[in-house]
Amino acid sequence: MKILVVGSGGREHALAWKLAQDSAEPELYCAPGNAGTAELGWNVAIAATDVEGLRDWCVAERPDLVVIGPEAPLCDGLTDLLEAEGIRVFGPNRAAAELEGSKEFAKEVMAAAGVPTAAYASFTEVDAACAYVRERGAPIVVKADGLAAGKGVTVAETVEQAELAIRDALEGEAFGSAGARVVVEDFLRGEEASILALIDGEHIVLLASSQDHKRIFEKDEGPNTGGMGAYSPASIVNAGVREKVIREVYEPTLAELKRRGVTYKGVLYAGLMIEDDQPSVVEFNCRFGDPETQAVMARWKGDMLPAMEAVVEGTLREELVDWVAEPSACVVMVAGGYPGAYAKGNPIGNIDLANEVEDTVVFHAGTALEGDEVVTAGGRVLGITSLGDDLEDALSKAYIAAETISYTEAFYRNDIGHRELRRMKNGS
Ligand code: AMP
Ligand code: GLY
Repeated sequence: MKILVVGSGGREHALAWKLAQDSAEPELYCAPGNAGTAELGWNVAIAATDVEGLRDWCVAERPDLVVIGPEAPLCDGLTDLLEAEGIRVFGPNRAAAELEGSKEFAKEVMAAAGVPTAAYASFTEVDAACAYVRERGAPIVVKADGLAAGKGVTVAETVEQAELAIRDALEGEAFGSAGARVVVEDFLRGEEASILALIDGEHIVLLASSQDHKRIFEKDEGPNTGGMGAYSPASIVNAGVREKVIREVYEPTLAELKRRGVTYKGVLYAGLMIEDDQPSVVEFNCRFGDPETQAVMARWKGDMLPAMEAVVEGTLREELVDWVAEPSACVVMVAGGYPGAYAKGNPIGNIDLANEVEDTVVFHAGTALEGDEVVTAGGRVLGITSLGDDLEDALSKAYIAAETISYTEAFYRNDIGHRELRRMKNGS
């Protein structure tokens, strides 16, 4: 069995790592992959955004399954291109990926489906958007409509900040065509968590919950990043919240998509804000989260491939998904300066040593091979992921491993899991 994983981040290393352990013993390819995926199979030098190049490779190589990691090729219709060639794909088609590709589309679907989410309006004109902001007041949230690599969202504490963000998006060049339209929505209070669900067009199976840490600095300060760490499970997503997420979020969203002639297959990530056990949707992503996937894959019990194939075949069942009881934690190590400018090409030492820490795996993200040497090649460099008897234990292993690793200007947050640890301490 031949599998191609598309992407090059920590998420893709984690997916490839899990697939590599499958009892089907698949032959693994990763495009373009990183130094971590190179150890599990073959890296193919085609960018994840080069959908035609990927299609041509697949037509020549005939993989039995293609697993698409990032949103860009999904929104560009890679699934559609491959399915037209009779190739099996794990990942939604272009129409379904619009749930992430256009915030306005996602909000419109949610409004039509009655999914709990912040009230919103969308604009292409600065004056109308600013008038709406003044009417609603602050805090308020301004979002570029299209894909902006996680940087298109401003949580504005004042009306002035919101107006500035509106001007930046609609008049400036900050987000290109992604910023030609803005969605302005009410600020939601509560605690965020991530839920991912496998969907085969019909059946929905929730994966283990997790919580990401989006800000660069401890105490959730500083600019937003792709994610500085995660843990699973997140107890804020209790059984009642999970039930609500299925009934109030996934089922109505899929029904509304179906009404519009769109079938969703793959993984659908719901970013939630939870207040008093009531979840509201902050965003949909049409893919696995990064670094949530690293934390979640570490807990997946048994083979994952049967569940992925069932998503493709439309035969998904709860029994195909199971979890180890131990919690996991993922600490992301970044390059100094990230999410701003950062250096690349710095040699990384002691990855092997870090991998020897009990119940720990070092997932590569922005890494590359220069000869035999692993060097930094991106902002998020590694995701150190550990299992533990409890979250504290998982974190202490991940931090021991992180301390072992050395590269110039390495940086990571020391407070991953802080909300959960506080919850545990308070006994609630
Ligand atoms: P998004 O890219 O939509 O996930 O937004 C990035 C981050 O902005 C989220 O993870 C939240 O922390 C924050 N955010 C987005 N929308 C809202 C909202 N309506 N209320 C409060 N915070 C939000
Ligand atoms: N960790 C946030 C995301 O994957 O979108």
